[in-house]
Amino acid sequence: MTLDKLIDKENIPKHVAIIMDGNGRWAKKKGNNRLFGHKNGVTAVKETTEAAATIGIKHLTLYAFSTENWNRPKMEVDGLMSLLVSAIENESKTLMKNQVRLTTIGDTSQLPNNVQTKLQELINKTSDNKGLNLNLALNYSGKWDILNAVKNITKAVKNDTLDTEQINYDTISEYLSTKNMPDPDLLIRTSGEYRLSNFLLWELAYAEFIFTDTLWPDFRKENLYQAILDFQKRERRFGQISEQIINPNKK
Ligand code: IPE
Ligand code: IPE
Ligand code: MG
Repeated sequence: MTLDKLIDKENIPKHVAIIMDGNGRWAKKKGNNRLFGHKNGVTAVKETTEAAATIGIKHLTLYAFSTENWNRPKMEVDGLMSLLVSAIENESKTLMKNQVRLTTIGDTSQLPNNVQTKLQELINKTSDNKGLNLNLALNYSGKWDILNAVKNITKAVKNDTLDTEQINYDTISEYLSTKNMPDPDLLIRTSGEYRLSNFLLWELAYAEFIFTDTLWPDFRKENLYQAILDFQKRERRFGQISEQIINPNKK
């Protein structure tokens, strides 16, 4: 029996976010170069996307390239960008077949032109798909997104389309690049690192966190199913006490 059969279909997280980490270490362990790790990471992306669609997750956000990743050696950055283009070209058919809708968050205007063109083509092509929303964080960081939101909120106040007194938590969410999706219920980070690395700082306020030692290129469907099962064992209290969760009428 595969693990997905054990998952409670009534308690599927609506939005799962993943920090895909450990490609470089995976390659090093195999005596290969870092790009080899990134190439094998694509298999994990495919498996995870398929598994997420199978169990009915609505949004899957994958951290693919952070604003800080530009600081890596040029050869690695160039390699990651070409890998992105080839992955888009190769996966187009499967995304359409599985009704996956592709979106991105982050400042994609700074990506190489050919990457931008390919991405836009696939975003347009998949825009009417009704299944899983696969959301790639590209040239993304949480601080960048919040900064951008502050700038745009300030502009709206200045030109009188927004009243300062009316700004609330929802306003801020609406000015972030994740505005069309619910906050993640679950964050997964692979490779045994325990940090956020500037990912979804506002949106993860009440997410459950799962850290696994598995390196990203080894991540498979069963790893996602296991993470969902672990998530389903957690009690999400949102500031309340356990007895109130069990009996909502308790004062
Ligand atoms: C994650 O793997 C992929 C990206 C950041 C693009 P890494 O490349 O960070 O792998 P490690 O952490 O060096 O092993
Ligand atoms: C975070 O991984 C970014 C992505 C997964 C795209 P990193 O490997 O870049 O994170 P740090 O720098 O080790 O924190
Ligand atoms: Mg890393």
